[in-house]
Amino acid sequence: MKGGYTYSLRGWHLSLALVSLLLVITVLWVWQANPIAITLRSAQEWYNIPSSELPVEAPNNALGSTKLTKSEEISLNPSSGNETKVQLDFVGASPVHSVTAESPEMQYSQGIRPSSKRKVCNYAKGRWVADSRRPLYSGFSCKQWLSSMWACRMTQRPDFSFEGYRWQPENCDMPQFERSAFLRKMQDKTIAFIGDSLGRQQFQSLMCMATGGEESPEVENVGWKYGLVKRRGAIRPDGWAYRFPKTNTTILYYWSASLCDLVPLNITNPLTNVAMHLDQPPAFMRKFLHDFDILILNTGHHWNRGKLNANRWVMYVDGKPNEDKKRAEIGNAKNFTIYSVAKWVNSQLVSHPRLKVFFRTLSPRHFFNGDWNTGGSCDNTVPLSQGSEVVQDGSSDPTVEGALKGTKIKILDITAISQLRDEAHMSRYNIRGVQNSSDCLHWCLPGVPDTWNELLVSQI
Ligand SMILES: *[C@@H]1O[C@H](CO)[C@@H](O)[C@H](O)[C@H]1NC(C)=O
Ligand SMILES: *[C@@H]1O[C@H](CO)[C@@H](O)[C@H](O)[C@H]1NC(C)=O
Ligand SMILES: *[C@@H]1O[C@H](CO)[C@@H](O)[C@H](O)[C@H]1NC(C)=O
Ligand SMILES: *[C@@H]1O[C@H](CO)[C@@H](O)[C@H](O)[C@H]1NC(C)=O
Ligand SMILES: *[C@@H]1O[C@H](CO)[C@@H](O)[C@H](O)[C@H]1NC(C)=O
Repeated sequence: MKGGYTYSLRGWHLSLALVSLLLVITVLWVWQANPIAITLRSAQEWYNIPSSELPVEAPNNALGSTKLTKSEEISLNPSSGNETKVQLDFVGASPVHSVTAESPEMQYSQGIRPSSKRKVCNYAKGRWVADSRRPLYSGFSCKQWLSSMWACRMTQRPDFSFEGYRWQPENCDMPQFERSAFLRKMQDKTIAFIGDSLGRQQFQSLMCMATGGEESPEVENVGWKYGLVKRRGAIRPDGWAYRFPKTNTTILYYWSASLCDLVPLNITNPLTNVAMHLDQPPAFMRKFLHDFDILILNTGHHWNRGKLNANRWVMYVDGKPNEDKKRAEIGNAKNFTIYSVAKWVNSQLVSHPRLKVFFRTLSPRHFFNGDWNTGGSCDNTVPLSQGSEVVQDGSSDPTVEGALKGTKIKILDITAISQLRDEAHMSRYNIRGVQNSSDCLHWCLPGVPDTWNELLVSQI
């Protein structure tokens, strides 16, 4: 009885397979006869179906309306009757001057590119939507992990509409962040952030997300395991490490603003120059790489002459002071270092099979009417006043994107996404009051770095 049932089921499968084969052959034959008709037809379907599935534009906050970008108007208009659609890169239409001030290579014109026809999942493509379930934690209560300098709720800032948005990727599944599920998934794992203060913001954000922003006396400080202790005379340790005992999950951060090895030239002299080995990864990373399951790298904003001089960092390559004038140019040195560190980490993946590495792209700055030291500010409080959508396929950080090509390192592409959020920086507010000068580089927490973590967690 059972055997007979299986047999007839098999026969049914067989005829189904035959019918499918016939169908495929017919389609192929028709396509050969008239390729254009089918390609255009399917392109049309491709575009109209996903756009109707997109969440309806969230109700705008009282402050203003969210403008549609040009390409959004195109893709949301099914009656245009023009199937040869192109997508205009958002960056081309947005104020990029603040990004270009940081890194000249960001200026690469993105131009008009024909859109890809496949529905590939690209987390960096999508839109910001209002979500009443945001923020994921309270800026008042997450005192244990959040530096007071970034807790905008602790300042005199009056507007908090920036806390109420979630990123919706266009073609990717992105489940709602849920901290117990996250910790269970990260059972016995170590997540390490290595990078500059923006990396530290992402670390603090993840600590708040993982604890729900509640007091968490059970979370253990395990900085000592990684030599992350405050040294005599130092303002703070080089990093922090915390362990969630229930799931044995460790989350750590190590400060390495340049992502290359820094070696004081004379350890007995506190005013010594520091060799900045552009082609060497930080010693901390070499030493503890075997301990990490997830590693998130970033660099960017320390690559300017002022910061190098102030830190007495002197470029070294191949163990010797760099004499290549071309390489000494900041943009080139940064590019060289990012390529070097990516190449090194990639070469380590074979011998570290459980390690997953992400390189986070540049966090955009939004100084308007000046730079950070010449009165630049970011006073806009209207969310998404330049549009809510990213439609480009490539990254707005060509350096990181290029360095990861051909490697197994994943890109955590947050540049264009964050570029739309000029209202979410610290701006004039800090714990001391309302300032004359603005911080349009760091973000309020809770805020945009929470989204970076949601994108990270979805891709782990
Ligand atoms: C589609 O748009 C292009 C560019 O604007 C135009 O040249 C072409 O004639 C249009 N095709 C149709 C079918 O409207
Ligand atoms: C915690 O996880 C690490 C791997 O990250 C493992 O080596 C260690 O044995 C675990 N400790 C406990 C108490 O389970
Ligand atoms: C290192 O610095 C100390 C203190 O300034 C100085 O006495 C010493 O000569 C320096 N050593 C070298 C090798 O330059
Ligand atoms: C960055 O460095 C890589 C590798 O050396 C090189 O191929 C690329 O052209 C450089 N890019 C820029 C913008 O200098
Ligand atoms: C604020 O900045 C302006 C010009 O940038 C300057 O003239 C003024 O003295 C500053 N005020 C304070 C309190 O620092």
